Amino acid sequence: MRLDVVTIFPDYLAPLRLSLVGKAIETGIVDLRVHDLRDWTHDRHRTVDNTPYGGGAGMVMKPEPWGECLDTLVPEPGEDAETAAPGPRLLVFTPSGRRFDQALADELAGEQHLILACGRYEGIDARVVPYARTRMRVEEISIGDYVLNGGEAAALVVIEAVVRLIPGVIGNPDSLTEESHSAGHDRLLEYPIYTKPPSWRGLEVPEVLFSGHHAQIAAWRRERAVELTRERRPELLSDQG
Ligand code: ADE
Repeated sequence: MRLDVVTIFPDYLAPLRLSLVGKAIETGIVDLRVHDLRDWTHDRHRTVDNTPYGGGAGMVMKPEPWGECLDTLVPEPGEDAETAAPGPRLLVFTPSGRRFDQALADELAGEQHLILACGRYEGIDARVVPYARTRMRVEEISIGDYVLNGGEAAALVVIEAVVRLIPGVIGNPDSLTEESHSAGHDRLLEYPIYTKPPSWRGLEVPEVLFSGHHAQIAAWRRERAVELTRERRPELLSDQG
């Protein structure tokens, strides 16, 4: 998968070189390219923002650097556009976007090429997204109902959630099917897990887990998952219809 991240703080994405995502980059499963939006400015101060029309607090990201950046990253559709691959999908991070969840992570993990646009200040000029929609598929994404200073932390979250789903990134793919929110687990919260010792500071590992009886263990885990979900996130149960 190719990932192009556009930001005015390229160093913010440095942690992606660590851990599992870092390994996926080293092994060539992921081709990560981080771009400085200021490379598409032309003035001495490399200006990316300006004051909002109509007044108000804060600054707005100018449309021109974003337009030129996307022109570079997404070449004009060729003559064989009908038969060509679907092309990149642009993700624009904003608190007013579609809420990011595991189902969207699953969907994005099937893409060949994602471009992640990290806005700063009060946001990007509102003409950039509609223009981009004429050229490519665009998803405005929020990682939760709170406001960040920019899209970089959201990009880190989305990349980590998506890349771990790409085949070959996680050593044992079974670990993906049992975890919280996964489709293989009916999007329930994950059941509690334990390791040795069997007794620790007066707290015991549930007896059934020593039984070696796989069906009983599976039934116990399912009950705990449903119970935990009902207690903490009842809306996930009602989502199942
Ligand atoms: N930019 C600012 N806040 C954000 C959020 N909650 N999700 C995604 N991008 C953002």
